[in-house]
Amino acid sequence: MALERTLSIIKPDAAERNLVGRILSRFEENGFRIVAMKMLRLNQAQAEGFYAEHQGKEFFAPLVEYMMSAPIVVLVLEKENAIKDYRTLIGTTNPETAAEGTIRKEFAESQRRNSVHGSDSAESAAREIAYFFVESEISPR
Ligand code: TYD
Ligand code: MG
Repeated sequence: MALERTLSIIKPDAAERNLVGRILSRFEENGFRIVAMKMLRLNQAQAEGFYAEHQGKEFFAPLVEYMMSAPIVVLVLEKENAIKDYRTLIGTTNPETAAEGTIRKEFAESQRRNSVHGSDSAESAAREIAYFFVESEISPR
């Protein structure tokens, strides 16, 4: 298995509820190495651009509003098989169907306010990491 990087976001609902530290611990306890991290607040263009694949869907406008509503923490996480393993760690989009022990099962408030983001493929990871970081901001191992 290859060492991979994935883009993670601790979303507004989690940051607002002071869950950043607990969620970061979950990443580290599960073998993910934090190789880049920053806190920022998205403006409308940034939120729309990040979720461009969902433009036109009924949940797009409320999703963008929510993502702008408070600061977020964006991270690059590194691990063998990071992309798939991170999606397993966070659980399904809707916390009601997420497996026991997953981050969304434990922390998410709803399908929209679901606490964390994770890249869903190698192509998404590359695009999403470049969306927030330049290579010099990512620590080499
Ligand atoms: P999606 O990429 O399908 O989910 P994931 O975050 O698991 O990759 O959707 C992006 C976000 O859009 C999702 O995290 C929460 C929001 N969303 C809704 O608010 N309602 C919905 O019905 C869906 C599918 C997503
Ligand atoms: Mg997605």
